Amino acid sequence: MPTDEDRARARQLAAEAVAEGDATGWFEKLYGEAEAGVSVVPWADGEVNPHLVKWAAERSGTGRNGGGLSAGRRALVVGCGLGYDAEFLAGLGFEVTAFDVAPTAIAAAKRAYPDSPVNYVTADLLDLPGSWRGAFDLVVEIYTVQPLYGPARSAALAALHVPVAPGGTLLVISRATNEDNPERDPSMMPWPLTRRELELAGGPLRLHTIEQFLDDEDPPKLRWQAEFHRH
Ligand SMILES: C[S@@+](CC[C@H](N)C(=O)[O-])C[C@H]1O[C@@H](n2cnc3c(N)ncnc32)[C@H](O)[C@@H]1O
Repeated sequence: MPTDEDRARARQLAAEAVAEGDATGWFEKLYGEAEAGVSVVPWADGEVNPHLVKWAAERSGTGRNGGGLSAGRRALVVGCGLGYDAEFLAGLGFEVTAFDVAPTAIAAAKRAYPDSPVNYVTADLLDLPGSWRGAFDLVVEIYTVQPLYGPARSAALAALHVPVAPGGTLLVISRATNEDNPERDPSMMPWPLTRRELELAGGPLRLHTIEQFLDDEDPPKLRWQAEFHRH
């Protein structure tokens, strides 16, 4: 679990990015500094996201939506970082493509999992490859939009539904706020998603489930977990 100290450099880079209007360049800078041993990537904790694990378990035949998750289908992991969630989904039998805007993160994921079946790609959610349109049965977005600010954030929300195939699912897990128009202090990344933003992420997809909960971090964080389906 990242401390405020771990977050300090990431927050500084994010605030500079807001001032400079370059919403995504700072991620590569942070991964590069971490490789050089001078910074920490606060979210690189080596753990699969516990809410994703629970979501998958509930759909694996033992939970309330048992049978909804099956092996051999195509999954896309957005903003995959060092690949923990991508490897987890591959372990469930999904044919996984995982992408991140930071080439250093993608290189590190490939190095960490040299025999991985995951297709790791450097790509930008704001400029997705055309061949990914409607190509994935499951699209997983965890904590990628919440560190984005301004126009890039709106563009990211609008792009999330695009790779979802007919009959496919978009899963979004993020920090949550119940304010409609929260003040966003540029120095306090990550910036929680509003309900309206969550709905924008679904775009034309049908909202299947939406949950808001306090997680078990210390202090607890308010989160959204939403699942959208394309008919
Ligand atoms: C807060 S981290 C979360 C990483 C991972 N999803 C997790 O939950 O641990 C956000 C990740 O999204 C990536 N990212 C940010 N903007 C992106 C974009 N436009 N396209 C692809 N990846 C992006 C960052 O490089 C970073 O790895």
